Amino acid sequence: MADRKRVTAPEFLAKKARGERLVMVTAYDFPSARLADEAGVDAILVGDSLGMVVLGHQTTVPVTVDDMEHHVRAVSRAETLALVVADLPFLSYQGSDAEAFRNAARLLQAGASAVKVEGAGTVCSLVRRLTESGVPVMGHLGLTPQSVLGMGGFRIQARTSEAAKRLMDDARSLEEAGAFGLVLEGVPAEVARAVTAAIGIPTIGIGAGVGCNGQVQVWHDLLGLAGDFKPRHAKQYVDAGAMIRDAIARYAAEVRAGNFPTEAETVHAPELEDAEKWK
Ligand code: KIV
Repeated sequence: MADRKRVTAPEFLAKKARGERLVMVTAYDFPSARLADEAGVDAILVGDSLGMVVLGHQTTVPVTVDDMEHHVRAVSRAETLALVVADLPFLSYQGSDAEAFRNAARLLQAGASAVKVEGAGTVCSLVRRLTESGVPVMGHLGLTPQSVLGMGGFRIQARTSEAAKRLMDDARSLEEAGAFGLVLEGVPAEVARAVTAAIGIPTIGIGAGVGCNGQVQVWHDLLGLAGDFKPRHAKQYVDAGAMIRDAIARYAAEVRAGNFPTEAETVHAPELEDAEKWK
């Protein structure tokens, strides 16, 4: 991957025109961002999913701008070539444009190169103002987790022709407002494919079928770190949870048996061997 270049928002957008599929994965800290970047992903999403997979909340609703800023700073220290996109959390951008700008500024100052917002409607005018001010914005439609309370649960969206048409209109509005990309979450593959064909900006699917321009997955789902929770859209590529549990159990067994540390992990000062002389 010697000729890899830094992925900017315009470069991310241009990949759709070149017919390249885009790879995005969430990461929430320095080592995971470094590993994702070394694996060659196009974009890292510091998602507000961190509220669930890192902070132990049931939904993304309790996530604050402080939480996001803290994790964006850690991810940004990895100085990745991948584009770092940060979620503006629930109710941090819907109240007023001034508040949204302040919160977007905090995430950009923490090191993100773009922000992501959920929904359309009034959000589109914010997307326009942010993009006109030079802030790259990614949209997010379909199953928008921040609206879980309003949706009454995490449910597949756009299952009827009316709802699919609304989603299509929203996608066009977000493109028109200047969004450089669009996450489509939890929608039928037929709808995601039609939206992907209808707009010029890349669609990034999660639970939206293979017809999107790219895919995003949550770090913990991909790597087997999410416990028993296995969303239908997720594919686990390794059981890192089992590997970590096994490694720590072996460490614990060695400590309890007096087999760790060994000489290899030990420093000596022979002149201090007789403690009677210095204690
Ligand atoms: O917060 C997140 O991780 C997301 C992805 C699921 C797209 O928004």
